[in-house]
Amino acid sequence: MNNTCAVILAAGKGSRMRAEINKQFLKLKEKPILYYTLKSFCESEYIDNIVLVVAKNEKDYCSKNVINEYNINKIKAIVEGGSTRQESVLNGLRAAKGCDIVLIHDGARPFVQNSIIENGIKYAKTYGASACGVNSKDTIKLRDSNGFSTGTLDRNILFCVQTPQCFRYDVILKCHERAVLEDIQATDDTMIVERFNHKVYLYDGSYNNIKITTPEDLIIGEKILDSM
Ligand code: CTP
Ligand code: MG
Repeated sequence: MNNTCAVILAAGKGSRMRAEINKQFLKLKEKPILYYTLKSFCESEYIDNIVLVVAKNEKDYCSKNVINEYNINKIKAIVEGGSTRQESVLNGLRAAKGCDIVLIHDGARPFVQNSIIENGIKYAKTYGASACGVNSKDTIKLRDSNGFSTGTLDRNILFCVQTPQCFRYDVILKCHERAVLEDIQATDDTMIVERFNHKVYLYDGSYNNIKITTPEDLIIGEKILDSM
């Protein structure tokens, strides 16, 4: 039997949100952002268990105010994050030991649909690595340090990658461990496997699958919740 694990990352500081508390504990319609994220994976028939990665000093708060408060099940482990997202992922991956497929997902991305989870798993099984995302709506330009444009990228081939990013467990664990040994830093997990020449299949996510990053995302997030 295949075992599929979701590693949910919630150990960041949320500095761009400029709130008093970590952004994933801020509320949308009276419930914490992280609750919605966890609920999506708990309710998915494609997910067997969840590893939650939280900051050391927020472990108790999170257990009490999110996990216990909303009866979140399927939690296999709650582990401590690191000082970078990459470190947090590796801690989560180690705790996910025993699964065949792992989905790595931002705790701050609460509106992921079940079809996105389903497709990510399907493509990870076929190709070893997959990530969802959307076509860029904006024209993206390059700006130099003096503020001048140095060019425009071709919008037709630009893809804004989201999470979940889904992998065969052996592939992603090996790549992350190698990245530590070779001192390679990456801002997301597809970059890590690409670095070691693995192909990553990109498939359609959703414009609703936003990451809550800055204060205006809270306003958009409430509207997305209304529409769901
Ligand atoms: N994350 C993590 N451990 C870190 C850094 C980030 O688990 N050391 C998680 C965050 O909690 C978030 C996700 O990775 O769910 C995406 O990161 P981001 O949106 O950048 O969140 P923060 O790093 O918390 O925010 P900021 O960069 O504004 O400080
Ligand atoms: Mg960050």
